[in-house]
Amino acid sequence: MLEWEALESACDNCTRCGLCETRHHVVFGIGNRNADILFVGEGPGEQEDLKGEPFVGPAGKLLDEMLCIMDLDRNSNCYIANIVKCRPPQNRDPMETEQDACIGFLRNQVALIRPKAIVCLGRIAAMRLIRPDYRITREHGQWVEKNGIWMTAIYHPSALLRDVSKRPETFEDLLSIREKLREIGAVV
Ligand code: URA
Repeated sequence: MLEWEALESACDNCTRCGLCETRHHVVFGIGNRNADILFVGEGPGEQEDLKGEPFVGPAGKLLDEMLCIMDLDRNSNCYIANIVKCRPPQNRDPMETEQDACIGFLRNQVALIRPKAIVCLGRIAAMRLIRPDYRITREHGQWVEKNGIWMTAIYHPSALLRDVSKRPETFEDLLSIREKLREIGAVV
């Protein structure tokens, strides 16, 4: 396991998969490295690749509003990362091989942060971190405990931008996450 500085530098120099050839920036993660709650998206989009920060495009604006509902803020009491740290071209889903190449970095981040809860943003993160056959439409908002960490998934902010009909149930999920964080004694 690497400490933060070495880990970030390993990511910055990574050539473990083909995404390194088209990236402008590695998108390592942002937030409080001692946070009790970690959010995990799938991978950087265009804006994120250009800026080197997760969720800074339109989906990021919505994510910030969602965080606010849970009394969270990306700069103070949570951490945000992705399954893959470099942008998949044309915003396609990250391939299994790319996820395999990158997941060790996220696992190292989890080991350093030691969050009490992880919220997967969308099905890609949920399938990778909760269960390979995770069904986001059926299971969003449900909690499972894995290796001492409470885990759930909600719809990805991009999905909520495309389909506003999913927003009311997501609002309920956000309120229940806020409640769960209180219940497990997470510092927010
Ligand atoms: N979508 C993601 O899954 N992650 C980002 O960082 C941006 C958009």
